[in-house]
Amino acid sequence: MAYQQKLFLSRPEETAQRNNMNEENILVELTEKLKSTQHLDKDEWISLFDGRKKDQGNRDIDDYIGMTAREISVEHFGHDVYTRGLIEFTSFCRNDCYYCGLRSSNKNAERYRLTKDQILECCRQGYDLGFRTFVLQGGEDPGPFGNMTGDEWITDTVRSIRSGWPDCAVTLSVGERSRDIYQKFFDAGAERFLLRHETADPAHYRSLHPASLSLENRLRCLRDLKDIGYQTGTGFMVGSPGQNSECLAEDMLFIEELQPEMIGIGPFVPHHDTPFARESAGTAEDTLFCLSALRLMMPDALIPATTALGTILPDGRERGILAGANVIMPNLSPVSVRKKYELYDNKICTGEEAAECRGCLERRMMSIGYSIVVSRGDHPRAGRRY
Ligand code: 5AD
Ligand code: FES
Repeated sequence: MAYQQKLFLSRPEETAQRNNMNEENILVELTEKLKSTQHLDKDEWISLFDGRKKDQGNRDIDDYIGMTAREISVEHFGHDVYTRGLIEFTSFCRNDCYYCGLRSSNKNAERYRLTKDQILECCRQGYDLGFRTFVLQGGEDPGPFGNMTGDEWITDTVRSIRSGWPDCAVTLSVGERSRDIYQKFFDAGAERFLLRHETADPAHYRSLHPASLSLENRLRCLRDLKDIGYQTGTGFMVGSPGQNSECLAEDMLFIEELQPEMIGIGPFVPHHDTPFARESAGTAEDTLFCLSALRLMMPDALIPATTALGTILPDGRERGILAGANVIMPNLSPVSVRKKYELYDNKICTGEEAAECRGCLERRMMSIGYSIVVSRGDHPRAGRRY
């Protein structure tokens, strides 16, 4: 009787265990398929994201995909980590994205513009610290910068950096422009451009942005950038309000179609002066999972372990590298303006000098067996123009 009772009692547990195993096998199979074909159909992506969500608490699949992605990354890049010196040159923005602390409606945001001389000084310091890529990032700032429009000023500044440091790459991250302007920036010597699509789902895009912005124009920009010949980066926030597995599936399919050279993702982190102040942040686990999935889909892409990931998890950037990322982007902006470039709350590295961050990251990378390299860090398949 005791035996029978035990048998009876254990049956539902066994079934649950069997179901879990089936679920896990399916996730492993999907991961394997992604690794070997660099492709999943939309319903497979949804099964992967949904299946993992159902299986919360069982981190085996996270470990599995992370390890697999790390192997692929090591195959392509060894234990080298590329760096980019980030210069946040303007906190003015004409847009009003609901998630971003620099949105134009945020009257508490302190606005600043760096001068060209300040930027060149950042490059000088950055070069000595071993940076061979400078990323000029800013809000969509129409200017004026002195007697120049924003576009003229960017063109002029890119030209000066390129002539001062001809062995360095310049990356722009300045938002949406006309094709004509993108071409002018390119002709001035900018070879790379970062423009996250934010979400590839039209309804989700609508819920994150005001009516003046459209997914259509965002995608037009990205296609123009690729077409002109930029090494192009796109990406999205993980855990932004309203994001579900279907949104993520669309993000993956869009990225597969665009074939960007760079992919930046980080967790959504609320900013206290935005409409999303009370929304919860994306998680490090979800971000790392997406990062690994991206690495499997795009084996030779340049993928940073982002500052946002380092903000929600103390060793987030190390974990990002171990999950398949191969780039880090420390801040080179003058410390006096760091806190003012506040996209989200509690952003790290706002008090540290460029040299401190550089040293800190060197140690962090060494602690996991990786090392920072002095290199432009172009995409393996990118044609060089200079
Ligand atoms: N949390 C996380 N990332 C953010 N970004 C903007 N606001 C936030 C936020 N609240 C990201 C966007 C943008 C990039 C420069 O920073 O994805 O493209
Ligand atoms: Fe800035 Fe560690 S990277 S202090």
